[in-house]
Amino acid sequence: MNTITAVTSPCPPAGLPVATAPSVRTPAGLVGNTPLLWVGEPFAAPGRGFWAKLEGANPGGIKDRTALYMVQAACDRGELLPGAPIVESTSGTLGLGLALAGNAFGHPVTVVTDPGMEPMMSSLLAAYGATVHVVAEPHPVGGWQQARRDKVAELLAARPDTWCPDQYHNPDNVAAYRPLAHELVAQLGRIDALVVSVGTGGHSAGVGSALRDFFPDLKVVGVDTTGSTIFGQPAAPRLMRGLGSSIHPRNVAYHLFDEVHWVAAPEAVWAARRLARCHYATGGWSVGAVALTARWLAGVLPAEARIAAIFPDGPQRYTGTVFCETYCREHGLLCHFPPDAPQEIAHPRERTVTSWTRCTTVTDPLADLTHTPAVRR
Ligand SMILES: Cc1ncc(COP(=O)(O)O)c(C=O)c1O
Repeated sequence: MNTITAVTSPCPPAGLPVATAPSVRTPAGLVGNTPLLWVGEPFAAPGRGFWAKLEGANPGGIKDRTALYMVQAACDRGELLPGAPIVESTSGTLGLGLALAGNAFGHPVTVVTDPGMEPMMSSLLAAYGATVHVVAEPHPVGGWQQARRDKVAELLAARPDTWCPDQYHNPDNVAAYRPLAHELVAQLGRIDALVVSVGTGGHSAGVGSALRDFFPDLKVVGVDTTGSTIFGQPAAPRLMRGLGSSIHPRNVAYHLFDEVHWVAAPEAVWAARRLARCHYATGGWSVGAVALTARWLAGVLPAEARIAAIFPDGPQRYTGTVFCETYCREHGLLCHFPPDAPQEIAHPRERTVTSWTRCTTVTDPLADLTHTPAVRR
């Protein structure tokens, strides 16, 4: 009779530390379980600070979570057939996630973007096997975002089995983020406030609603860019990418937010750079804007308040923008130090904001047509 010899050597061998990071058999297994970093002094005031959830620790960024989830859900429902193409409009982070999901589930991926996409990002997407389609002209009203969406519609019409996740309006883009909330609860125990950027609205809605189930008094602070229409400001040219929109994504959960902050590009750049210098962990536009807001919140909430701030990605893709002296000088981004506190408006349509501003009235601009003071400069 054959005997099976068990592996009897201890793992790890005596004397070596026990590894806590998981060992996984597929790249998709690397997604999630991201670390938290305490951001206190000197970025924050003495005795104050917040916990940064470092989603840049995912292979591609925060959108790996939703890309895998949306693709899996579409396969399960039979909307995405085996081997069928995936096409999506994205400024980058979701593209990386979809390239990962395409690799994991066996689908070719086309990413529709605009000339603002960083060259490093297009190269990376191509390296991961995605096709990158760059639209040439902005839509006269809806800007680059609408132009990208129009191109996606064209590609969908050309090949009927093509599937588009439609991250702006797909409820799976919200559901995908419940595990992120559960990680935060496991890591922090109690959470009093969440600071979160808003682009499609996916991660703010998913994390915010799941955390409210645990902590009904949770304060949810949304962070947008100036020039974005999401929270009822008029559209204007935007330098910042990732957060903000020139359309009204249906995934934004307006009822969850206690307040919204609009942050301008130089202010986000200041925060992203200062974070890099002081705390090593940093990121791009959305990380800078979130960090600026979380730093302020840590100063105004009681010292014992536990604040979680979501950093959607890392600094790598921003070496040609946020962390590039020439780019920042050309765009006038280096000479503005943000004030210690934001300006305040009573309603998103009170006036057009061009620098860091806070509003505690948060409504869906498409539903709230009652308040009509003229937007003025
Ligand atoms: C870097 C970055 N930050 C923030 C966001 C906004 O996240 P959401 O689309 O979940 O609102 C995005 C979305 O693409 C992003 O790429």
